[in-house]
Amino acid sequence: MTDVFMNTYHRLPVVFARGEGAWLTDVQGRRYLDFTAGIAVNCLGHAYPALVKAISEQAAKLNHVCNYYQSDVALAFAEKLVAACAGAGMKKVFLANSGAEANEGACKIIRKYSLVKHGPGRHRIVTLRGSFHGRTITTLSATGQAVFHKDFGPFTEGFAYIPPNDIGALDKALDPDVTAGFMLEAIQGESGIRPQSPEYVTAAAKLCAERDILLAFDEIQCGLGRTGTFLACEAYGVKPDVVTLAKGLSGGVPVGAVLAGEKAAEILQVSDHGSTFGGNPIAAAAGLAVLETVNNPAFLAGISRKGERIRSRIQGWNHPQVKEVRGKGLMLAVDIDGEAWPILEKGIAMAEGPRPGLLLLRAGKNTLRFLPPYIISDGEIDQGLGMLKGLLESTGSPRGS
Ligand SMILES: Cc1ncc(COP(=O)(O)O)c(C=O)c1O
Repeated sequence: MTDVFMNTYHRLPVVFARGEGAWLTDVQGRRYLDFTAGIAVNCLGHAYPALVKAISEQAAKLNHVCNYYQSDVALAFAEKLVAACAGAGMKKVFLANSGAEANEGACKIIRKYSLVKHGPGRHRIVTLRGSFHGRTITTLSATGQAVFHKDFGPFTEGFAYIPPNDIGALDKALDPDVTAGFMLEAIQGESGIRPQSPEYVTAAAKLCAERDILLAFDEIQCGLGRTGTFLACEAYGVKPDVVTLAKGLSGGVPVGAVLAGEKAAEILQVSDHGSTFGGNPIAAAAGLAVLETVNNPAFLAGISRKGERIRSRIQGWNHPQVKEVRGKGLMLAVDIDGEAWPILEKGIAMAEGPRPGLLLLRAGKNTLRFLPPYIISDGEIDQGLGMLKGLLESTGSPRGS
């Protein structure tokens, strides 16, 4: 492994060269079935024909204009994205390049809305323990996990963390004298696929509306069809004030988006915010191809059905290593009796033999996380689960032994 990169990632020993569908191939020609989708990015798998065509045609036409102007493709993408989120009440969008950048935009919208409507001193943003909102200083400040905070202070002031699914704690934290916004993931991704209960989300929407506190859903991992509805918040029947998206939105090309509904759509004005690459034509062309494929009721129903297939198959094993299966659609986690990382390593090592390997994620020490591409077939799901069962058996079962 090369050491030119800063040592920021806990990497597995594999270097990929290409991909097709739900499969990746490494530099030695070994194949791996992908249950990760690049952590919810390659939602249409690898080399999806409509995505390849959109990116290559756009690259030959126009790949950047500065934000003094618009491009036809960014305009078409923005219109389609706002329309896709209209059911959740979204009216306008700002295009960025990453999830952290989208959440920075959300924080700025929340703070400026409160300042304009309620005056200074009311700038606190409440987030949940176990949340993950990004790696910039402000989005780290928003992230309710101490493990990410060590070494990087001082942080952006004005964030408070509360336990998830605790309506009493939420009621107390949403003090309208000091609080501008509440940001949450409908299903927390990085901390182990942990959903908020419908009662909690309904109460949050009610409290925020009553107190004029902006409700922001970070849908960077759980949005864009991942849980079987275009936005995860739709399943709760709530209309947030702000929604952020990134990851799978352009199927693998860097992108981010912050959307705002009626209350906050006009809050950011000229010179308030910007991003050199935001609205990049190639990302926009890719995003259009993703939206055309994913935002379709039959396609979304397929995501739910495939997710149920994975869940019911794993539950049906009654395997002594499997403690709990959680999540929704193709955003699933399995708590195991043992450590997840050795299973990820064995999934890679398996490809050294005559069989393919299996790519898995973890979310916590003892949790396997599945975020497969939406285009994975039933046959590939069954094949991957067969491999997973073998991996669980090969790592032994402390409880079963
Ligand atoms: C819910 C959530 N928000 C924000 C982010 C940050 O996104 P990015 O890495 O694109 O900055 C992530 C990344 O994992 C995420 O899962």
